[in-house]
Amino acid sequence: MKTYLVTGAAGFIGANFIKYMLAKHDDIKIVVLDALTYAGNLATIANDIDNERCYFVKGNICDRNLIDQLLANYRFDYIVNFAAESHVDRSIEVPQLFLQTNILGTQNLLDAARGAWVNGKDENGYPTWRKGVRFHQVSTDEVYGSLGAEGFFTEETPLNPHSPYSASKTSADMIVMAYHDTYKMPVTITRCSNNYGPYQFPEKLIPLIIKNILEGKRLPVYGNGTNVRDWLYVDDHCKAIDMVLHQAEDGAIYNIGGHNEMQNIDIVKLTIATIRRIMTENPSYRQYLKKKELNEAGEIDIEWMNDSLISFVKDRLGHDMRYAIDPSKISRELGWLPETKFEDGIVKTIQWYLDNQEWVKNVTSGNYQNYYDNMYKNR
Ligand code: NAD
Ligand code: DAU
Repeated sequence: MKTYLVTGAAGFIGANFIKYMLAKHDDIKIVVLDALTYAGNLATIANDIDNERCYFVKGNICDRNLIDQLLANYRFDYIVNFAAESHVDRSIEVPQLFLQTNILGTQNLLDAARGAWVNGKDENGYPTWRKGVRFHQVSTDEVYGSLGAEGFFTEETPLNPHSPYSASKTSADMIVMAYHDTYKMPVTITRCSNNYGPYQFPEKLIPLIIKNILEGKRLPVYGNGTNVRDWLYVDDHCKAIDMVLHQAEDGAIYNIGGHNEMQNIDIVKLTIATIRRIMTENPSYRQYLKKKELNEAGEIDIEWMNDSLISFVKDRLGHDMRYAIDPSKISRELGWLPETKFEDGIVKTIQWYLDNQEWVKNVTSGNYQNYYDNMYKNR
């Protein structure tokens, strides 16, 4: 039986990760640590927390006493750190919070783990570590900065972040590697491209566009919409982390991505077309539309649901132009390959949001409207 501390698992990817792990492995126990910020929602994992295989603790990764206590109470084999402030736009508004959580929080976890996992010293004075332990840092392709029209990020691409978010994630990666190089801590890092799938908070492009369409609102596209992101279905990311945790060498870094580059404008157009198609094939989904004008056939009208909803708005400051991952290292060394084709994943995702409007309502019931009004008012 292996025991995992998974931080940030009430958020998008962490929640998908614990669902994936609990379904795949019988012989594991997971403790979830999450501060339940605006991005964390207990309802997302309520069905997974059975208190036997999975146990929830509300708390901050910056809280050293709490982390020490958890490490003393549970003999963790793995720490998987998803907890982070994750939204680039928010990092432009409140950079310091990102430095606190993403850098200092990560260092706090590393140091607490060092306290709990070191069991002696070798002849050169390096700490020795309990057998089988590992700290895994969930990082991002944004640490590499931005690409022009050509090329891909490899693990050798120099780190060159631009936003406060990506600078904080880069710093965290460097601290993780500092613990590996200085104390020989068993660590791994994965740097993934843009994820999409169920349970993503509707501040990020795809769920925000879905939400706005249902509400009949304008669809804000930053700049001219030609920025490129490399999209990966969240389960494929979870599978890669599972493989890295169990198969990678200590100190290894892997890029994760599925060669699925898309311009933002094409993502938005595809989302409009997909919702329209689903609502044409199954008119009962039209009940989720805020606008309920009837057409001549007596059905809720969806003629207005087209590309004219798109509104090109003021660009994000320092907006990275293009991300694209070369995943050949993880494919070659660990045998990872993405399984979900984008055409299938995007339909599955949109369908999930349509079927889970209660979840959307729940996570956006707090400060979301204020956030939206502030973030988009000058655009
Ligand atoms: P998210 O914002 O949906 O979730 C973050 C979670 O962390 C939330 O549950 C939040 O409550 C929790 N949290 C925030 N601050 C905390 C703190 N101080 N202590 C404890 N918990 C805290 O983020 P996500 O999109 O699921 O991303 C998860 C991780 O994956 C992040 O580290 C992010 O940098 C990385 N990542 C994300 C993507 C992506 O496309 N979303 C891609 C690559 C890497
Ligand atoms: O690449 C991995 C990163 O992907 C992760 O590290 C981050 O945590 C995650 O948030 C994501 O960052 P992005 O900035 O790429 O994601 P976001 O969904 O915010 O934006 C995707 C693209 O869409 C980006 O080019 C900005 C644009 N965009 C975004 C929003 C919210 C718009 O045009 N309009 C919008 O309203």
